[in-house]
Amino acid sequence: MADTAYHKFDTTRVPAPKGCPVDHDFSPFSETYVKNPYVVLERLRDQSAVFYAEKLGYLVLTRMEDVAEVFRKPDIFAAANVQDPVLPICDAAAEILSVADYDPIAVLSNRARPDHTRIRKHAQAGFSSRRMKILEPFIRRRCETLVEGMLMSGDRAEFVAALAHPLPGETIFRFIGFPEADDQQLKDWTTNRLAFTWGEASDEEQIDIAHKVLAYWRYCAAFVAARYDAPADDFASELLAAHIADPVDLGYNEIRSVIYGLSFAGHEIVSNLLSNGLINLLSTPGLWAKICRDPSLIPNAVEEILRFNSPQTSWRRVATRDTELAGYQIPAGTQIFLSLGSANHDENLFDDPGTFDIHRANAGAHISFGRGIHFCLGNRLAILEATIALQTLAERIPALSLVENQTYSYFPNFTFRGPKELWLKW
Ligand code: HEM
Repeated sequence: MADTAYHKFDTTRVPAPKGCPVDHDFSPFSETYVKNPYVVLERLRDQSAVFYAEKLGYLVLTRMEDVAEVFRKPDIFAAANVQDPVLPICDAAAEILSVADYDPIAVLSNRARPDHTRIRKHAQAGFSSRRMKILEPFIRRRCETLVEGMLMSGDRAEFVAALAHPLPGETIFRFIGFPEADDQQLKDWTTNRLAFTWGEASDEEQIDIAHKVLAYWRYCAAFVAARYDAPADDFASELLAAHIADPVDLGYNEIRSVIYGLSFAGHEIVSNLLSNGLINLLSTPGLWAKICRDPSLIPNAVEEILRFNSPQTSWRRVATRDTELAGYQIPAGTQIFLSLGSANHDENLFDDPGTFDIHRANAGAHISFGRGIHFCLGNRLAILEATIALQTLAERIPALSLVENQTYSYFPNFTFRGPKELWLKW
């Protein structure tokens, strides 16, 4: 498989670094971790900040210092593996994606320098302040309508379906330039890709997702071709203008691949941010009333949600050469599990890290958006969506609260965290 393939299906395992503690139980798929990763991570951090997880075949880093060091050295700790399925894909699903016209390539999150720098320059230009200003009224309008829909439905609503899921999907589709008329189809194709890459999808689910992923790729390809002929004021057209100005500096298939990747990168993760945030804000006595009285508290509250209960609790890297890390000799090919969730609760950086505190002075020192050359391109957009959603809810539903006695269910996976359902009442 080419180095620039979007997904690689390499399952080679490199054994534990010499002298490194080995943990035979740790798995982000385990019931206890899925229920509350922070309890598991605190214990592990105390026992051994760095260990080799035998079940995964990954070296696990739990301290902020070590996680940040890996992000800072992208040539030694490459991001090449971040989009690869964690568990092997069944033959039938792989076959569906082996057709000649399914040819997305690694462009941002899993592309190395110098190409990453070249492509990111164009993509970053598209996430401009101007583009955010254009999107903001759309996000506000959509939040108003979705909250109105919640209120119209009675005295309670399931928040994921009512707002958390539709808002980020539609926002990213408008950002790219996809027509509103296609929203339902697009949501159907793009939801669940997380299960394919980071989850434990059954063969049947994998086949279904592979069909959707292929259909979505074909849609992206046709959309880019249409925008080439008839540009508009959107992200896709901006990338195409850069390509037309200099086709070597930004390739045509690179544009298709950036667009393809964005709706996965910017959708379900923001849904999870919104739901995780409301769980924390509404379960701390008196906090929602305080926010409703003073909405200027929202921006720091969003940072604290990202620190305390991030929608992304881990990310990956792979060592490109023999090297040293946290005092161990790491062989080339070692896969690394960066525990962002653990680093965000590191006692060396955050006082009383297990307390949710929207006034925390250094809440923004979290590492939920990564760091270094791959730092999340959509961070401003995610924060904008979360801020507007919370502002709208605080203004329209000051009596908002959690429906009592509900238990949250999370889908077992390697990296992402957010409740499948969240019932709210007012
Ligand atoms: C709360 C929401 C989000 C979180 C927690 C998040 C987190 C992350 C993380 C951890 C990375 C990897 C950083 C690294 O490897 O150093 C990343 C990369 C990326 N994110 Fe996000 N993300 C969020 C929302 C979004 C949104 C809304 C978009 C797009 C609209 C987006 C687009 C991207 C892209 C394109 C990359 C790859 C950047 C590169 O490699 O140059 N993300 N994100």
